[in-house]
Amino acid sequence: MLLSEQAYKKIDKELTKFPADQKRSAIMAALAVAQDEKGWVSTEVIEDVASYLQEPPIAVQEVATFYNMFDTKPVGRYKLTVCTNLPCALRDGVKAADYLKEKLGIDFFETTEDGLFTLQEGECMGACGDAPVMLVNNKHMCVRMLPEQIDAMLDELKQNGESR
Ligand code: FES
Repeated sequence: MLLSEQAYKKIDKELTKFPADQKRSAIMAALAVAQDEKGWVSTEVIEDVASYLQEPPIAVQEVATFYNMFDTKPVGRYKLTVCTNLPCALRDGVKAADYLKEKLGIDFFETTEDGLFTLQEGECMGACGDAPVMLVNNKHMCVRMLPEQIDAMLDELKQNGESR
């Protein structure tokens, strides 16, 4: 058992949403709970989730590797996913990504040396009209991210990250 009691309780709650013989349907939710707690989903975490759901590890592995919201390698405390799909690319999405790369001194799929930030390229997040768009840790969407807004976001995240 790799996760906290609280995490398994959350997974139990997700399991109540599906028929008892459809535990596979809870894999995504269970992985999300595990990733929230561990920061990423290692092979051990994937095996633990599989064993808890009584599913084959490969079934959990497939979900973890298919969806880019799951990280199967360690990431920084803050994962910044920038949408560079065409509608955003036409409205400064790529420029926002380039600005972040320069500010953080990293490329896509790299992590800053202090372990605070990982930068990723993402697919359409359904907010094309408010480009440039990015997600922080898969959950918090930031829109109209021009350099000034990016600077403010990074400062805020740095302050939060360093005070922990
Ligand atoms: Fe970027 Fe839709 S293309 S949010």
